[in-house]
Amino acid sequence: MDSDKFSVAISPKVYIVGAGPGDPNLLTVKALKLIQQADVLVYANSLVPPQILAEMRPDAEKVATANMTLEKIVPLMIAKVRSGKSVVRLHSGDPSLYSAIHEQMVRLSEAQVSFEVIPGISAFQAAAATLQVELTVPAQVQSIILTRISGRTQVPEAEDLASLAAHRASLCLYLSARHVEAAQAQLLQHYPPQTPVAICFRVGWPDEQIKVVPLDQMKVATVTDNLVRTTMYIISPALRAELACSVGIRLRG
Ligand SMILES: C[S@@+](CC[C@H](N)C(=O)[O-])C[C@H]1O[C@@H](n2cnc3c(N)ncnc32)[C@H](O)[C@@H]1O
Repeated sequence: MDSDKFSVAISPKVYIVGAGPGDPNLLTVKALKLIQQADVLVYANSLVPPQILAEMRPDAEKVATANMTLEKIVPLMIAKVRSGKSVVRLHSGDPSLYSAIHEQMVRLSEAQVSFEVIPGISAFQAAAATLQVELTVPAQVQSIILTRISGRTQVPEAEDLASLAAHRASLCLYLSARHVEAAQAQLLQHYPPQTPVAICFRVGWPDEQIKVVPLDQMKVATVTDNLVRTTMYIISPALRAELACSVGIRLRG
């Protein structure tokens, strides 16, 4: 790659950057170049692999946000930009999905601090690639729904899981493993019990596990292997071949 043709000039503002699902090789070129140049990197400790942090300038400041609320994080970013620093705020996957960037952008706008959003690969894209499936196979399914079940964050009634299940589309279910029993029950209201479900645990990380099971086994398979932390489900007729030909389990390494 001719790196000159891919140059990115960094300036004092907040860069809201999608870090992808875990595999450092899935960062965009722009994300990597910003990380390499930033004065300050703000990131959630558990969601960013060490290889990405290793790309930072040795003199750059790292701010791990594990114990910080947005009330602390946003003023810190504003203060850094006002002191002339460039801030990279890393989010897992793509920032447009379940990243609470809306609140952050509102506050940055109110403070008249410039920001830019750099997309990343979301968990559903990385999982589909690992599974080697197309989620929009002609004559089977032509729509993808990205959603979650209600938890601490309430899903609007018009989007409840059972009503979305009625479309029988390829449905990518985020943030729902702790409510898997309720999710399975709602999905079964419309999908047949044999519909394939890919349980995608920590895609792109060294301990990645992806299992393909029938929908009526979704809860048991999740609970048996304790796949509740950082898990996304893909429920899709397009996974039928995966369910039939795999023994239902794929393990990395
Ligand atoms: C706060 S949301 C962030 C989503 C992220 N913005 C994205 O685009 O993937 C966290 C949820 O995303 C999913 N997720 C994120 N990274 C994942 C990964 N590497 N493997 C499986 N699921 C993942 C899980 O459903 C997890 O509960």
